[in-house]
Amino acid sequence: MKAALVDELGRPPRYGDAAEPVATGDLVVAEVQAAAVKNIERGLVSGSHYGSGALQVPGLIGLDAVVALPDGRRAYTGATPPGGAMAERMLVNPALAVDIPREVDDASAAALPNAAISAWFALQYAGQIRPGQSVLVLGGTGVTGSLAAQLAKRTFGADHVVVAGRNAARLERLAELGVDATITLGTDGGAQGQFETEIRRLHAERPFDLVLDYLWGRPAEQTLGALANNDLAAEFHRTRYVQVGAMAAATIELPAGVLRSAGIELLGQAAAAYPARRSAGS
Ligand SMILES: NC(=O)c1ccc[n+]([C@@H]2O[C@H](COP(=O)([O-])OP(=O)(O)OC[C@H]3O[C@@H](n4cnc5c(N)ncnc54)[C@H](OP(=O)(O)O)[C@@H]3O)[C@@H](O)[C@H]2O)c1
Repeated sequence: MKAALVDELGRPPRYGDAAEPVATGDLVVAEVQAAAVKNIERGLVSGSHYGSGALQVPGLIGLDAVVALPDGRRAYTGATPPGGAMAERMLVNPALAVDIPREVDDASAAALPNAAISAWFALQYAGQIRPGQSVLVLGGTGVTGSLAAQLAKRTFGADHVVVAGRNAARLERLAELGVDATITLGTDGGAQGQFETEIRRLHAERPFDLVLDYLWGRPAEQTLGALANNDLAAEFHRTRYVQVGAMAAATIELPAGVLRSAGIELLGQAAAAYPARRSAGS
């Protein structure tokens, strides 16, 4: 069968021939209908993702897909480790595949779950969002961040949602969809000079309870700097700062005083933070 083949980390996958998967145990062979290229696969293959070391190389890539199962079901499913959804066929456990409503096309059904589930879980589990809270989404013009901003407002009952991003048209659309304020980042991959001032102003007006950060790098440094203060007597406001993505840069500089002068709780969003899957009936 044809598949996306990873020969070595740091090089794009190539279209080539791979061995046919063989059904075994609970796993059946399914026909792949659509598999989305997401940032996580880009990161894994480029070698920049923390999970790159676990990738089987040479090997296949692709973490999830829409498939046609042998019994005729059209379903969304994750690929069995180490992955290989970007191929004509893949192994699937039918019990772990989710039926897709007829009105949703294959491409949408393949592209949305990674972003939507991550957005939901970042808010509910890492973020522990509560109704009435104030939320900042850094990089909220991307697929995942814009879903997170809308979920925060509409589903989790956040009172005040602010989105920062580079893309002015996307910011405008998010404002139409109900986010309360938007901040434009510089187009050079960094943040404009006034960005930190604007975050500081908004935080003083209505302290952020939760930050979801899809960018890291300079925008994160400036945001963390804006949450800090220089008043020894200042009262702390607890802000959960959830690191989700690193589109701007993989590292930041974090002065010690930022953490000591503010109620920042810094944590990351990862699959390991999700609650264990419930057994049937529980
Ligand atoms: N941990 C998890 O569970 C999880 C799950 C999903 C995604 N993620 C991560 O979250 C990040 C965003 O994912 P996504 O699905 O939203 O991606 P996406 O749809 O490709 O959006 C990427 C966003 O990042 C912005 N961006 C890119 N480079 C930037 C830079 N140098 N400075 C400022 N903004 C920049 C883009 O702005 P422009 O439109 O202006 O280019 C866009 O808004 C990725 O790092 C992804 O791996 C993590």
